[in-house]
Amino acid sequence: MTSGGSLPCGVRLVGTGSAVPGRVLTNDDLSKILDTSDEWIRQRTGIRERRICSESDESVFSLQRDALQRALDDAGMKGSDLDLIICASVTSEMTCPSNACRVAAAVDAAPAGAFDMVAACSGFVYALNVADSLVRCGRHRAIGVVGCDAMSKVVDFEERTVSVLFGDAAGAAIVVRDDDPSKGSVYQTLNADGSGWHSLYLPRRETDIPAGSPESDIRLGYLRMDGRDVYRFAVSKFKEVIEDAMASTSLTPDDIAQFICHQSNIRIIESAKEKLGLPDDKVYINIDRYGNTSGGSVGLCLDEIRRAGRISDGDTIVFVAFGGGLTWASSVWNL
Ligand code: UT7
Repeated sequence: MTSGGSLPCGVRLVGTGSAVPGRVLTNDDLSKILDTSDEWIRQRTGIRERRICSESDESVFSLQRDALQRALDDAGMKGSDLDLIICASVTSEMTCPSNACRVAAAVDAAPAGAFDMVAACSGFVYALNVADSLVRCGRHRAIGVVGCDAMSKVVDFEERTVSVLFGDAAGAAIVVRDDDPSKGSVYQTLNADGSGWHSLYLPRRETDIPAGSPESDIRLGYLRMDGRDVYRFAVSKFKEVIEDAMASTSLTPDDIAQFICHQSNIRIIESAKEKLGLPDDKVYINIDRYGNTSGGSVGLCLDEIRRAGRISDGDTIVFVAFGGGLTWASSVWNL
């Protein structure tokens, strides 16, 4: 559906799914190939292990397809019930065609629209916010949103400062039109500040590297990150974004069932929890098992939380993410 629909309407989240590769890469595994240790990685990041795609049969595409199919199954829907699919990723196999087109074909969603979105770690929340707006304005009835990254494909496992942080995962959600306008995203933000782009980037050519950049041991074609810069940015945005969401909706943390946050580094999450006084049981953490999965993390958390019965109809939840671009986004969502 591409036109019509009466305003206003709401948006209901009716299904979630996720997919992670089978192969587990522990900190001890990494310490065999890099000058690092389980102790350093745990203390500085909170990560114990991450999942890594096999070369042969796992990819961003396969994770996206499996996560979306599981979300459809959870919703009791078929691919043909969707009229749009949005795949957020910075590690899609090809830029043409979009992964979303191939995922749409794999779940038999044609002729649903399909496009990829690039917003790095903020990708899932960006895509969910856009999907909410497209349904709410009446242009679409049912949208599949997938956040996914296979960071193992773009980190240089010969260099320790970036590679230990990341992992591979996909999370998906199905959102549909609902007659109750109070359902769905009742407040949302999408933000970017490109002046900080070189804090986290994936140079393909020498000319992509800004003049005056420090020498790097990371090979061309792999992710480069100024960890301390990104850390400072994430800590300040995390707090700012949640405070803004609470002030703009006149809600308090007591009104929120779960804060579903990008899993960047346990220290970043703990710092925000402490500054905002958020209780442990309202801020879900799975970075210990999956690492930082970039665009996959928020959707993966959402699926795990939902399947564990920690959120249900009538709850209000808050999504928060930040990452390369630099980008950040939030959504206050009534289930
Ligand atoms: O999702 C959004 C994208 N990314 C992020 O959110 C990441 C944000 N940044 C971070 O999470 C942290 O900055 C890191 C985990 C990447 C790094 O932690 P840090 O506490 O900021 O460490 P550092 O870069 O300040 O390095 C401290 C020391 C250095 O040694 P010296 O100079 O003190 O002798 C590093 O060389 O730790 C060393 N180091 C390591 N040692 C063992 C750096 N990486 C490693 C490693 N193993 N893997």
